[in-house]
Formats: sequence, structure tokens, C-alpha cells
Amino acid sequence: MPEATQSQHTGLTQTAREIQEQRIRLPELRKRVCSAEHAALWIEDGMTIGMSGFTRAGDAKVVPLAIAERAKTEHLKISLMTGASLGNDVDKTLTEAGAMSRRMPFQSDPTLRAAINRGEVMYVDQHLSETVEQLRTRQINAIDVAIIEAIAITETGAIIPTTSVGNSASFAILADQVIVEINLTQSLELEGLHDIFIPKHRPRREPVPIMSVSDRIGSTAISIPPEKIVAIVITQKSDSASTILPPDHDTAKIASHLVNFFKDEVRDGRLTNSLMPLQAGIGTIANAVMSGFIDSPFEHLTMYSEVLQDSTFDLFDAGKLDFASGSSITLSSQKSREVFNNIGKYKDRLILRPQEISNHPEVIRRLGLITINTALEADIYGNINSTHVLGTHMMNGIGGSGDFARNAYLSVFATKSIAKDGKISSIVPMVTHVDHTEHDVDIIVTEIGLADLRGLAPRERAQKIIQHCVAEPYKQMLFDYLAEAELRGGHTPHVLEKAYAWHTRYRETGTMSEVAGTLKAVA
Ligand code: COA
Repeated sequence: MPEATQSQHTGLTQTAREIQEQRIRLPELRKRVCSAEHAALWIEDGMTIGMSGFTRAGDAKVVPLAIAERAKTEHLKISLMTGASLGNDVDKTLTEAGAMSRRMPFQSDPTLRAAINRGEVMYVDQHLSETVEQLRTRQINAIDVAIIEAIAITETGAIIPTTSVGNSASFAILADQVIVEINLTQSLELEGLHDIFIPKHRPRREPVPIMSVSDRIGSTAISIPPEKIVAIVITQKSDSASTILPPDHDTAKIASHLVNFFKDEVRDGRLTNSLMPLQAGIGTIANAVMSGFIDSPFEHLTMYSEVLQDSTFDLFDAGKLDFASGSSITLSSQKSREVFNNIGKYKDRLILRPQEISNHPEVIRRLGLITINTALEADIYGNINSTHVLGTHMMNGIGGSGDFARNAYLSVFATKSIAKDGKISSIVPMVTHVDHTEHDVDIIVTEIGLADLRGLAPRERAQKIIQHCVAEPYKQMLFDYLAEAELRGGHTPHVLEKAYAWHTRYRETGTMSEVAGTLKAVA
């Protein structure tokens, strides 16, 4: 336990005794405070570990690194489950130490990604709402130890999470033992932000009683028997900053096409000026699209989303957003300082929920969400690949995009029309991997334009997508492909032997473009 510490958010200095009183309110647990190295001794080779952390927010930060240290000198391999991706190089460090044998349900770390693509780490890429349902029903390996970051432990031994809830509640409830990392850089003002609700067992489960994005239905902390808490580690490491880039010309165009589309929906009476609750996926494009609402005519917006990024707080500050429900808050470093130094300003308009609730199909369908997720590539019929580069190599994972897209009121997928300086077209004849089928995709939008696919048959969808979303020279190439395919007939026409010719050409020549590819091949 440090003698005295200064909070990065409040600037106040706390003594060790104050820390204990405020942060470990059940006195009998104070004797469980130990070092990360000591806590890591609870982990044994072959165990399944459930760690807090969701898109770099609220992750366990020091015990995982102590596990990695041990793995350098002894045989120690774990299966790791989290909410989603981690920060603080936790995935990287565990991978480099050879400690990671299995990982689920999401990651976005380049080192781990490379190990997954070499076949060294078995990665289960899963809808984020489903992991704890499978754990609860013992369809997958049980959690041995949960490692959960917290701002404090209450008088009854309940754990108050930090900047994410993710799967932390069910991990702590289902694990045999729980290690808590109390993070002194996280303000105690976060208490009250979380809404912990655990669905009952099926098949006689009651409905999740969320009728509005702001409904609170659970408790503010994770209740577990306190004797399960076997170790408490005090940490002072901040969440890693988000890696999103600011909006650029293309992402601003994508946002503008969407805003114009929504204006038309309002004009035609299908939406009101407050639209429907919004969900936005991870990454630069989704964040930029949400930022586009700042200069829009829409008012009293709400979010029922998964990750709350910088744009959420920009929309609050612009007076556009009334309420945001999510599972984590993941911000750039500057925005993080602005938000967490003033969390009181936002707190009554925010809820953080378990990801099985933020991503719950029943709630998404009931609330009627407008969901905005990102594609790596889309095909001419509207199937979406969000995860696999050239059909084989994992990028990040499906995350929550499937939970949302399948159940949305209106499912939007955004992508830039080209990648890698135009050498890749994001719209291709046939996607090399399908995460979202054409049945779950209402709108595709690129910087070129927007294709409204509602009510259209495959041949009509193809015309719309090629006409509105594709950059030259790929537009003409796709029209040529479609014309040849239509000569062969079918409900969803294809020239099967050419369907992946673009990807093959990219692999062989470094570009999907016929002209440049030929030139490069000749040269
Ligand atoms: N083929 C190969 N690479 C492609 C590509 C394609 N068709 N399209 C994009 N890329 C590359 C980009 O060049 C970029 O590479 P870089 O990091 O080397 O520069 C990278 O993919 C990211 O693309 P970018 O255009 O910057 O988009 P992004 O940051 O918004 O991320 C996804 C896009 C699809 C990778 C990301 O949104 C994702 O992982 N989504 C799946 C999970 C999800 O949707 N979760 C949301 C639920 S809340």
C-alpha cells in the first residue's frame, strides 16, 4: 500500500489510511492487500481467467503483467476472457511471454493479432453479448479466477467497477476466486455510474425491464460473497488512451451523407428530430460519424451503445445528446482529462451496464436502435466482412456489431470506399468472410455516397451499392462484373470463378485494380 498518493483526476493527496477507509470499506478485507506478484500466485497453468476491461477501459493492469513475468520462467499458459480489447499492452505482454493459449471474445492488439494469425493463440471471436450466457450455462470452460479493476469495495464486499463494466460482474460471480485491483487514479465519483443487472436462468427468464435508454434496473456494484476476494492489489496506472484518429475529409463526407439521409427520414415522417437511440461501433470511422451529428439539426439525441467514445462527450457539450448508455468509456488522453475531471457534469446522463445488457438483442429490438458499424469490406449484395483481411487474417473481431446489426431498427454499415491508398476497394464482388449477412444491412455508406437498401432485391441492391458507394476505377469494374454475372442468371448472380479475382490480384500484384495490377505485373 503506498504511503500517500495523488489522484490524477482530483489532484488530492490521500494517505494510506484514507485509501483503506474509502476504497476497502469492509475492514476484514484489508488484510488481503498484497503485491501484484503475490496475487499472481493464485494463477495456475491451464486456468481460465476472466479479466475486466472493455476497449482499453477499466482493464486489470498489474496482475496480468505479473502473470506474464512468471510465464517467462515457468510453464504458465492461460485462457483469457475479457469484456473486449485491453490497454496497457496487457495482451501484448502476455503474448510475448508465451502465457496466452486461448483468447475470447475480442482483441485489437497487433502482437496478439499476429500470434492469432500464426495459429499460436486460439482466438474465439464472439458476439459480445454471448460470452457470459455460455459461461453461465457451462457451455464453455468455467472461470477459475476473475481479476477485476475497481474504484472501491463496499461495506458488504461488493465491487464497484471503474470505466467499464463489460463482463466483470458475471466473471466475478462465476469465478472460484476473485482478485481486485483497486485503481487510485480512478475517481470515487464514478460510484453510482454503473447499473449491474444479471438476467435469470432460461427458459423462464423474465424480460429485461429496460423501456428507455436511461432506465436503471440493477445495483451500482457487483455483489459477491466477500470471502471469494482472495487478493487486493492497489494500482495507480491509468487507462490507455483511445487510438482513434480525428475525423478526416472522407469520414466527414461519410457523416454528411448520413446526416442528409436522416434529414430525409425526418422530412418523410419516418423519424422525429431526435431520431432513435443511436449505437456507434468502435474506431475512427464510427467516432467521426457520431461527431457529424454536432452540426446537424437533430436535437435530444440518445445513445444505447457499447463504447462511449470522444464523440459522445462532444455531443453532450454541444447540447445535442440527452443521455448515453454504454458498457465502457474509452477516450483520447485530452478528452479523458476533460471528462473525468468533470465527471459530475455528465454523471446523471450516463449509465455503464454489463455488455450482455448494453448489447442485449431484446433491448436493442425494443428500443429501436439506429446502429452504425464499420466494415472492412462489403460486397455488391450488401454482405459485410468486418473482421478478416483478405478472408483469412483476423483484424480485431466482430465485437458487438452483430448484436446490434441483427436487431436494429435501422442497420448502417460505414466504410471508406478504398483502403491502402486505393490499392484495395472496400466494395468487392463477394466478401471473403461474412460477419453480417445482407439480411442485416439496411444502409451502406462510403465517402462517395449512401445506398439505401431497404426493400430491395439482390439485383437492385447491387445496382444501388455500385452506383452510390464505389470509387473509380472499381465502379466500372463492378458494373462489368455484375453484367457478366446477370447473364448467368440467378437470384443473386455471381461469376464464381471471378468472385475472388480481385483479392487474388491484390495478393499477387499489390493492387485490386486491373489497370495498375497489370502495369505492376508487367514491370
Ligand atoms: N482490406 C484490408 N485492410 C483494410 C480494408 C480492407 N478491405 N479496409 C480497411 N483496412 C485497414 C485500413 O487500411 C487500416 O489499416 P491501418 O491500421 O494499417 O492503417 C485498418 O484496416 C483500419 O481501418 P480504418 O479505415 O482506419 O477504420 P477503423 O479504425 O474505423 O476500423 C474496423 C475499422 C472494421 C477494423 C473496426 O471498426 C472493427 O474492428 N470493427 C469490428 C468490430 C466492431 O464493429 N465493433 C463495434 C461494435 S460496438
